[in-house]
Amino acid sequence: MFIPIQEALKKGKGEVSIRGWVYRERKQKDMVFLVIRDSSNIIQAVIKQDKVSKKEWNDINKILIESSLEIEGELKQDKRAVTGYEIQVSKINVIQFSEIFPINKDQSPELLLDNRHLWLRSRKLTSVLKIRSTIFFAIHNYFRNNNFYEFQSPIIQSTQAEGGSTLFDLNYFGKKLFLAQTWQLYAEPAIFALEKIYCIAPSFRAEKSKTSRHLTEYWHAEMEVAWANFDDIQNYGEGLIKFIVKEVLEKNKDELKILGRDISKLEPVIKKRFPRITYTEALKILKDKCKIKVDWGKDLRTIEEDELSKLYDVPIIVTRYPKIVKAFYMKDDEKDKKVVLGCDFIAPECYGEIIGGSEREPDPKKIILRLKEQGENPENYKFYLDTRKYGSVPHGGFGMGVERIVSWICGLDSIKDAIPYPRTMLRYTP
Ligand code: 4AD
Ligand code: MG
Repeated sequence: MFIPIQEALKKGKGEVSIRGWVYRERKQKDMVFLVIRDSSNIIQAVIKQDKVSKKEWNDINKILIESSLEIEGELKQDKRAVTGYEIQVSKINVIQFSEIFPINKDQSPELLLDNRHLWLRSRKLTSVLKIRSTIFFAIHNYFRNNNFYEFQSPIIQSTQAEGGSTLFDLNYFGKKLFLAQTWQLYAEPAIFALEKIYCIAPSFRAEKSKTSRHLTEYWHAEMEVAWANFDDIQNYGEGLIKFIVKEVLEKNKDELKILGRDISKLEPVIKKRFPRITYTEALKILKDKCKIKVDWGKDLRTIEEDELSKLYDVPIIVTRYPKIVKAFYMKDDEKDKKVVLGCDFIAPECYGEIIGGSEREPDPKKIILRLKEQGENPENYKFYLDTRKYGSVPHGGFGMGVERIVSWICGLDSIKDAIPYPRTMLRYTP
């Protein structure tokens, strides 16, 4: 019976059978050292010429990296081996002799992206993908634990929601339609049926910028809640991030270690309350502590978010942005009509905006006005405006960029490594 390498390592001694792929190989005259990997871990195996048949020894000398095989042998502790143990092979069965693997030591980022389908096997990406899997599970769990229903909205949509400049057109039988930037306009009508809903789905943004935090296709975890006020929305966002980080720290210590992530940077997130500051306060902090002057009314740019993030060891929640920089659906602040009840969560360590959310504007007249200001035809939003006509209730929601969270938690240099097959303006294959 084959067991995962991780299980073999736990077992620590005795006969084991494992199967996997050759991660490293080093051939000597009468001995071959292999490091074998499977999805669970890696382990060293040593094959001595006098312990195997002539045919097996011939095969062994043809083995290249990434060949698939099955081995059987005696497990022994060995401090020099990569994971502390070694299998002394008594039986070996090569399933397929690999051709020369295109990824070698000279790994330019572009070569790795061209060979993304193969680079998925690297320890780095395997670790990221395991953490990503924990994060998706945690998002589902968090919302389910809080009695949310999972609700789906269409990817093919007839209007914008987050500004026309990042819309992807779609030729839909000769008609111009768009790929979803958000589920929101379709989610708001559904809270009148289900009250508390969430989803995780791809969103699309025609981002022309080449940054370490923008994808054109990303996974968007969104939620919408009836009867919720602005504070409730922020509380859910903070609760979600704390839960995700807690789950990853519990389940993925090994992967974080492989990635070289300093987990002391993540621990405060679980324990400390996220500071909540207004946009206007943020400008003052930027001026006083970072010597950066931003004119009131200008959106915070990457550099300003980054400077702010360096002042804290947990995400911060920036609230009450100027109306002109935010989406048409955000609710006016009763106390200051120049700002809206929108919030951005800014991750520590310069990982940027991880959540954007708001309380929603209840007054359809205001929504229509703001749509017109943005050059939109309110006729196209009739279904959305109906949400404000038939038993409207206070409500709100947010969206979280899953790859931004993965990128931050894993400590990645680029968001491209937070998703299996990244899509950016210049990268769409494989
Ligand atoms: O701030 P955004 O644009 O908000 C919305 O779409 C709202 N409708 C969400 C809602 O209230 N339901 O996007 C939400 C989040 C951002 O905070 C960011 O984390 C992520 O989506 N995001 C991106 N992630 C990767 N690549 C991009 N190009 C992204 N654009 C936004
Ligand atoms: Mg935003």
